[in-house]
Amino acid sequence: MDNLFELAETCLHNAPVDEKLALTHQAWQRLQNGELSLDQGKPVAAITQVRFPEKPEWLAPRFVPKRKLTAPGGVAAFFHAIAHIEFVAIYLAWDILYRFRGLPDEFYQDWLRIADEEAQHFELIRAHLQALDTAYGDLPAHGGLWDLASMTANNLPARLALVPRCMEAHGLDVTPGIIARFKKLGDTVSISILDRILADEIGHVERGSYWFSKVCRQQGREPEAEYRRLLAQYYQGGKPKGPFNREMRIIAGFSNAELDWLETQSP
Ligand SMILES: [Fe+2]
Ligand SMILES: [Fe+2]
Repeated sequence: MDNLFELAETCLHNAPVDEKLALTHQAWQRLQNGELSLDQGKPVAAITQVRFPEKPEWLAPRFVPKRKLTAPGGVAAFFHAIAHIEFVAIYLAWDILYRFRGLPDEFYQDWLRIADEEAQHFELIRAHLQALDTAYGDLPAHGGLWDLASMTANNLPARLALVPRCMEAHGLDVTPGIIARFKKLGDTVSISILDRILADEIGHVERGSYWFSKVCRQQGREPEAEYRRLLAQYYQGGKPKGPFNREMRIIAGFSNAELDWLETQSP
């Protein structure tokens, strides 16, 4: 029987995009059919072994050209940026399940299902980009998305606090406003893709919240205090900037007290 962690290693250590997508979908199917073993295989390899494709080129965020949606090529540039976020999200889901061991089976099921959804998001956007005469890799991409993963490679509560509960949660804050802009442009295809992604992302953040508080409690730590502490330690500036989508973040497992804290800007 194939082993989940060996498949994770194949996905993380090899760059080709289409193989990664196919492997991700197959792995999720096979896990549901009881066809994958969760036995600890080889020791966990260092995060520096993770490989990304040569294209797109990764640039520091300040060097990534910003274009308005209404500018020529603006919609394609926007979806190229989203394709990159979804592509890195496939890695992030595989990496959390690969790197952190000894958790209940449900943990591995959750993150493999999320990897599968991220692969679907990427495919939806890649097809949309194709209709806009753009391929993933044609434009440079935001090079900072993997930094949080590298920084938290040895700390599961920090990974959960920073990736689902900061990075993906930020998507919940900004996507409704982006959808509103596409509504003004009357771009129904873009709207339906973004609606679909947003609905799934609420679930990803919710799983992040669920596992974050479970792991904190197991370690005898109070989750809300731990969230503040980890952000102070790992998040540049100490905490993300709003405005926050309270309604969706509550569904995704944030408490009112956490949102009140996030909304209070540090002096
Ligand atoms: Fe996604
Ligand atoms: Fe996600």
